[in-house]
Amino acid sequence: MSRVAIVTGGTRGIGEAISLALKELGYTVAANYAGNEEKAKAFTEKTGIATFKWDVGDHQACLDGVAKVTEALGPVDIVVNNAGITRDGVLAKMSFDDWNEVMRINLGGCFNMAKATFGGMRERGWGRIVNIGSINGQAGQYGQVNYAAAKSGIHGFTKALAQEGARSGITVNAIAPGYIDTDMVAAVPPAVLEKIVAKIPVGRLGQAHEIARGVAFLCSEDGGFVTGSTLSINGGQHMY
Ligand code: CAA
Repeated sequence: MSRVAIVTGGTRGIGEAISLALKELGYTVAANYAGNEEKAKAFTEKTGIATFKWDVGDHQACLDGVAKVTEALGPVDIVVNNAGITRDGVLAKMSFDDWNEVMRINLGGCFNMAKATFGGMRERGWGRIVNIGSINGQAGQYGQVNYAAAKSGIHGFTKALAQEGARSGITVNAIAPGYIDTDMVAAVPPAVLEKIVAKIPVGRLGQAHEIARGVAFLCSEDGGFVTGSTLSINGGQHMY
């Protein structure tokens, strides 16, 4: 029986590419999504990958969601914490809700999903957790104190949990994408984005599959000696 992987936010953007890459690796994939029913339905029709709806920022919903995936597909050995949102704005204009939602979903989601799966991975002596951080968690970004803090938190979370999982065959790593051609980046005002792209040495936005290949490696058997690391995939924008 093939191993089961959950990809949060796995039906769109970078998450969609990750779901496909893990399926290609031979894993049984469960793609979690939060709200876009239409896109999730189209995704399953196109890929044959099962989708499961819950809010990763809701602790109980994660426990229940993982229980449903386990019942449908089997015990979960791989989690990719990809789900994330932006609520950009300068501090002066940022509401507490904009701060809290980004922390709750982007960083809280990693905690919730790890709580729901880590014990089982430890019992079975094998696991892979990949957390999607960001260049903006490494370098900061004007207008993103919430997002940068949450993503930076993900990098710390990754290094701490890696230490807890190492002796049980569980690796925990992060990928720090740069600016990737997705709906999230398309929402950046064009004039601002133009200036950002001008600072990318490779001279273009990244593609979702370029992140997915890195995730696939970290989730493979060959990735077993890589833990607590952050792989930066950003076209050279921040060499870290
Ligand atoms: N450094 C210093 N000053 C800056 C600046 C920067 N990087 N960017 C803008 N400013 C200045 C502007 O020049 C302007 O100055 P003046 O008033 O003197 O002209 C002032 O700050 C206000 O700028 P804006 O007009 O842009 O302010 P705004 O309130 O309309 O918008 C914003 C602010 C929403 C943050 C907007 O600038 C923005 O969307 N920026 C992009 C943020 C970004 O990169 N988000 C990434 C989303 S994708 C993602 O997060 C994925 C990932 O992991 C990479």
